[in-house]
Amino acid sequence: MLSALEQAASPDPWTLHQLQAALDDPDTRVFGIEREGGLVGHAVVVRLPFDAELQAILVTQEARCQGVAGRLLKAVIEQARTWQNERLLLEVRASNDAALGLYRGAGFGEDGRRRGYYPAHIGGRREDALLMSLPLA
Ligand SMILES: CC(C)(COP(=O)(O)OP(=O)(O)OC[C@H]1O[C@@H](n2cnc3c(N)ncnc32)[C@H](O)[C@@H]1OP(=O)(O)O)[C@@H](O)C(=O)NCCC(=O)NCCS
Repeated sequence: MLSALEQAASPDPWTLHQLQAALDDPDTRVFGIEREGGLVGHAVVVRLPFDAELQAILVTQEARCQGVAGRLLKAVIEQARTWQNERLLLEVRASNDAALGLYRGAGFGEDGRRRGYYPAHIGGRREDALLMSLPLA
């Protein structure tokens, strides 16, 4: 189900191998939200020595703008607090307005930018990554 959601809805889908590695890693949590027996969203967070990192958050096209990512992000933040991490970190494409709205609304601030970090989508150019963090302490 995770892989089907990635293939159907993600602009940068994770491979089956990446998803399996996340599920098998004791320092990684994968959260999902189901509706009517189907997965409508998932998020992946990794525990680092001091910080936690949100590595993925994805919602099906049909379930967007209904608060699903907000609920997933809340679960991720609670997990990072349980791990006693100091900050929750993430990287996001500079053009990803939906994700930026989600993160800014949750209180994330911008720490910097990696120029040309993301490969181009079809017909486009390489894109900057914004580095963001949410203080948890
Ligand atoms: C980004 C994404 C996860 C948001 O999921 P969602 O379930 O639609 O988000 P929610 O309904 O929980 O919205 C939470 C907040 O995000 C922001 N947001 C969501 N969609 C938005 C949009 N299209 N434009 C601007 N802000 C948006 C809003 O601030 C919203 O809060 P509000 O409803 O109070 O206005 C979803 O668009 C997605 O799966 N995108 C593709 C994968 C992706 O880009 N992941 C992020 C990688 S860093």
